[in-house]
Amino acid sequence: MIKEKMISALNEQVNREMYSAYLYMSMSAHCSTIGLKGFANWFMVQYHEEMLHAMKIYEYILRQGGEVRLQSIKTPPYTFESPLDMFTKTLAHEQYITASINELMELAIAEKDHATQIFLEWYVTEQVEEEENDNDIIQQLKIIKDNSHALLMLDRELAGRITTVPTDFSKGIEAAMKQSGA
Ligand code: FEO
Repeated sequence: MIKEKMISALNEQVNREMYSAYLYMSMSAHCSTIGLKGFANWFMVQYHEEMLHAMKIYEYILRQGGEVRLQSIKTPPYTFESPLDMFTKTLAHEQYITASINELMELAIAEKDHATQIFLEWYVTEQVEEEENDNDIIQQLKIIKDNSHALLMLDRELAGRITTVPTDFSKGIEAAMKQSGA
């Protein structure tokens, strides 16, 4: 039986993941505006990833008999200095998300909530991958500096990122995962 304290903390995480989606959607819009369609694609794919992160927790709360309590999502920034600025902010945000996942895990351990610990393991692994992806692109952008030709080459590469996570959750996460082949 899941405790109210855990349900409340998981609801806060749904909001953090929804904000993450909102932030990357905003970055995607900015990239489209400045003509970097490949970067815009990368951030929109990331938006879908974040929606999955939020929906997995949403469904877990419901499956545990808890109440989903959606909160307002704060306004993300919408102008950025450069692609490097966006990825530096993305990494900083992901580090904040990693810390929040770690706090959730610590709470689940303290509450002897084994089911939630197992559920959260997926997020612990996922955060390693997210930070690694951001770090890789930051390193490339540091090498590129002000070389616009190299920046357009990277833009072309990022245009190739495709959404591999489900985007339709109307039949639940498991059905969505099967349908998307994820
Ligand atoms: Fe849901 Fe990017 O962490």
